[in-house]
Amino acid sequence: MEKYVIEGGVPLYGEVEIQSAKNAVLPLLAAAVLTEQRVVIHRCPRITDVLNMVQILAELGFSTNFVGEDLTIDGADAANHEIPAALAKELRSSVFMLGSVIARFGRARIAYPGGCDIGLRPIDLHLSGLRRLGVCIGEEGGYIDCVCSRLKGAEILLDCPSVGATENIMLAAVRAEGETVIRNAAREPEIVDLANFLNRMGAKVYGAGSQTVRIDGVSSLHGVEYTPISDRIEAGTFLIASAMCGGELVLNNADAENLTSLIHKLCEISCKIHADDGKIYIKSGDRVSPKLVETSPYPGFPTDLQAQMTALACICNGSTVVVENLFETRFKHVPELIRMGADITVRGRSAFIRGVPHLRGADVFAGDLRGGAALTLAAISAEGLSSVADLSHIDRGYSGFEFKLRALGARIRRVRI
Ligand code: UD1
Repeated sequence: MEKYVIEGGVPLYGEVEIQSAKNAVLPLLAAAVLTEQRVVIHRCPRITDVLNMVQILAELGFSTNFVGEDLTIDGADAANHEIPAALAKELRSSVFMLGSVIARFGRARIAYPGGCDIGLRPIDLHLSGLRRLGVCIGEEGGYIDCVCSRLKGAEILLDCPSVGATENIMLAAVRAEGETVIRNAAREPEIVDLANFLNRMGAKVYGAGSQTVRIDGVSSLHGVEYTPISDRIEAGTFLIASAMCGGELVLNNADAENLTSLIHKLCEISCKIHADDGKIYIKSGDRVSPKLVETSPYPGFPTDLQAQMTALACICNGSTVVVENLFETRFKHVPELIRMGADITVRGRSAFIRGVPHLRGADVFAGDLRGGAALTLAAISAEGLSSVADLSHIDRGYSGFEFKLRALGARIRRVRI
């Protein structure tokens, strides 16, 4: 196991390069299954979620080659339809493979997916959507078995705008016969990126980014070279780091359009922010409390920035209520923040935070990816020495997190326990 050792209390200054979005890249890797031809993904981050997805592709018979940040996938010889349990349990995005593996091979077998332990995270909407497209699904012994000789377009209404279910259905529907309409679809920027990628492969996807996505099925898809959108959650993490630690940052390859709810909150608490030509500039301010932060599907406040925002609220002047509406148990970072001197009470899905002047260094444990990022920011802003373990969570989503933070002035190093 590895941990960060952090000596806190220094402001952050400088420029940071934002990676391509984890949540955009993962469904693109599933989309690569849909063609026999070569797919190249530029600026592909070397995070463990991506590396696990690449390993799943290899198990399916795809040849994969990572050179620098360019990932090449070649599916000419791919023939397997089974995703091994050990890999499926490593990450939730393995479930995206269902739609594309069925579309390519007519069948799929996968163990129930893993991922961050932040609540129940059912996949009923994925499965009912695929059933509507004509897939026969059996569930036994922790495995999902899917068979379908011919996918048929259908009208699908999602009970809630699930990101993963929208993507999974899109991945199957692009190769279905006829038209599919997904209503109450998720509107996240990563859905738009997936649609753009699929359309560049020859698919016909319309309306991505709105509540209704229409797909005209095509009989085959071809290869593509593509650069995914930048990671709004990584960018948001650095903006919050700046608000917590003080100083001035420039984020390169960042899209402020996709971060309006966070930027609005940070301006409310007196940060100075402006965006220009793929860059976001931030100068931290007096840290007035944001009062209320409530997560909701895009374009609302992202649940993936809730933990980091909770850490920031701990050192704001005044009280803040943070409401987590998407996932049931996404407050695992709270007891750890309390160990660092935060004043927080959790009741159900709400955290009531009374700001303190500063946090104190402590040895803390990350229970999930974004919680781990939040604790790292808390430690960098805190007075004294901290350690944050276990880094396997953080490595799932942030490439070179400590290198980027260190280049901005943070005193952080990785050590093996
Ligand atoms: C994706 C993101 C994750 C983010 C989340 C919400 C990826 C790889 N992950 O996860 O980082 O936190 O969106 O923005 O893109 N639900 C059901 N049934 C289903 C599916 C979902 O009830 O079949 C519920 C979930 O329990 C949750 C809500 O829908 O309450 C949103 O989940 P969803 O949008 O599906 O999240 P993920 O795709 O898993």
